[in-house]
Amino acid sequence: MIHLIDSHAHLDDCKYEADREEMLDRARKAGVVQIINVGYDLASSARSISLAARYPFIFAAVGIHPHDAGEAPEDYLDRLREMSRRQGVVAIGEIGLDYYRDLSPRDVQQRVFREQLALARELGLPVIIHDRDAHGDIMDILRKDGIGPAGGVMHCFAGSWEMARECMAMGFYISFAGPVTYPNARRPKEVAARVDLSRLLVETDAPYLTPQPRRGKRNEPAYVRYVAEEIAALKGLSLEVLARATTENARRLFGLPEAF
Ligand code: NI
Repeated sequence: MIHLIDSHAHLDDCKYEADREEMLDRARKAGVVQIINVGYDLASSARSISLAARYPFIFAAVGIHPHDAGEAPEDYLDRLREMSRRQGVVAIGEIGLDYYRDLSPRDVQQRVFREQLALARELGLPVIIHDRDAHGDIMDILRKDGIGPAGGVMHCFAGSWEMARECMAMGFYISFAGPVTYPNARRPKEVAARVDLSRLLVETDAPYLTPQPRRGKRNEPAYVRYVAEEIAALKGLSLEVLARATTENARRLFGLPEAF
């Protein structure tokens, strides 16, 4: 039996309202043993904690996404710090910069990103980084501010091999989602093929970024297998070997218990 961990999903999304139980059932049957549900604002962080309380195989990350940085209340850091103490919270995320949609002013995105990096260092928690069309500023901030010994993950990685190598040297894991399965995704495929097996994670980012075989439909954690199969093929490894490594990596990064 293949065991996989979906290291990044948003299962509190209203798209699962009608069939969340069935969707989770399909994930379990597909061998998904654990899932990290990632917050993007205070409300979704609270919903992630609720999911983690309800399902022993779901763990939560709490944080403010760059899209939502402009709307973060003044006391958001105190509230994240409080939430981080709740059962099942394993990371600060997702945090970072998004210059593709620019939904929050860039100076605000940068401030909120840096404040949350500092919070993660203070709490000794790993970080989950969102980077869209902001590679230069992300790396500048990470070089300047650094991450703590708890490390982190570059989620849905879209950068170059040079960037991946520098991130790994900083203590990051590199995670790939559905886009690595798209036929024209040359760079993600090249980078995924080269990333050290000991630094690799897989994710869905469900309900977004549905892998190729199901593209156009709603994504869900069961489909993380397509991501794992693609990377295994790119690396010339069996799915078993890839699954075992990425599952161990996710457990090491997030401090997850063994699951059966
Ligand atoms: Ni996400």
